[in-house]
Amino acid sequence: MTTVLITGGHSGIGLAAARTLAAQRIDIVLAGRSLERMQQVADELRAAHGVTVTLLTLDVSSLASVRAGAVQIRAAVEVGELDLLDAILCNAGGRFDGKASYSPDGYETTFATNCLGHFLFVELLLPSMTEDGRVVYTVSGTHDPDSMDGKAVGAAVEPDATALANDGKNGKKSLSAGKRYSTSKLCTVMYAYELDRRLRKAHSSISSIAYDPGAVPGTGFLRGMPKPIQWMSTTSAMQWASKRMGITTSDVEFSGASLAALATAPEFVGQSGIYFQAKEGKLSAVRSARISYDGKRAERLWDDSKRLVNLTSEEEALQLR
Ligand SMILES: NC(=O)c1ccc[n+]([C@@H]2O[C@H](COP(=O)([O-])OP(=O)(O)OC[C@H]3O[C@@H](n4cnc5c(N)ncnc54)[C@H](OP(=O)(O)O)[C@@H]3O)[C@@H](O)[C@H]2O)c1
Repeated sequence: MTTVLITGGHSGIGLAAARTLAAQRIDIVLAGRSLERMQQVADELRAAHGVTVTLLTLDVSSLASVRAGAVQIRAAVEVGELDLLDAILCNAGGRFDGKASYSPDGYETTFATNCLGHFLFVELLLPSMTEDGRVVYTVSGTHDPDSMDGKAVGAAVEPDATALANDGKNGKKSLSAGKRYSTSKLCTVMYAYELDRRLRKAHSSISSIAYDPGAVPGTGFLRGMPKPIQWMSTTSAMQWASKRMGITTSDVEFSGASLAALATAPEFVGQSGIYFQAKEGKLSAVRSARISYDGKRAERLWDDSKRLVNLTSEEEALQLR
């Protein structure tokens, strides 16, 4: 059986991906904060497709929760309750509007949620993956400061993990919510590429992919925004205007199905270290921001992230088979 773990698979793009995967008789591990909402989705997928759905309580903004979740998955795989994972979809995340807030570990919420949590989760779960497994990171076109997507939200700044984790502390002005978001996605693209480089160096066949679902209206993504803005984003006039402005637009079904395809479809075997984008019904490999290919910056980001999550030597020893 094929088994795919997805963070944030009970809503939006993740839910559309989970539905597509389940319809292909793929077993699912739903990982997220809301056990109740995950339970509803699990019931739906089991009833509709007869697949096995496992639930994992996981708050990606909390390093303790990520460690506990990874221990649970590893133990389930060890005793044969769960198959090795064919894919891990690092999809949970969002933009956190308003003043900067901080995770249980004291890190800025956007960076803690979109970056550090998944960084640690993947590090701890690589040994629980199949030999040719795939890690897919849901990123965003906003990561590119030179694109319209990036400019509209707030151009990403330097991908400096320590500065981002501590954004807005010690009386300093924090970045705007838009910049916190776009920069967290730039960091995630760089994690995807750096993981690919590390996997290739270790002669692993696991793939690491960055995936931009495009601007997708109607998900929970704008939940921090005033209701009229949320509504506006779903209108066809707004879709038309976004397209005219040069924003990368998509819809939830196509973007979810594309995420599912990147997780398991045979045409993406070996497509590691690549940035895929869903745009108006087409999924293609495209170039990401120029800065995202900077290997030196990515290495620094990786090492700083390792320090911020306090990766122990035991945890590090686990990483690659
Ligand atoms: N929609 C867009 O236009 C768009 C564009 C580009 C990229 N993306 C990216 O696509 C991904 C999915 O977003 P979406 O649009 O589908 O929005 P969504 O419906 O809000 O889905 C986000 C998911 O992330 C989960 N999540 C947030 N914080 C979490 C935490 N601390 N721990 C565990 N789970 C957490 C949410 O769970 P809860 O219900 O518990 O909050 C939810 O299931 C995100 O990474 C987003 O940045 C979205």
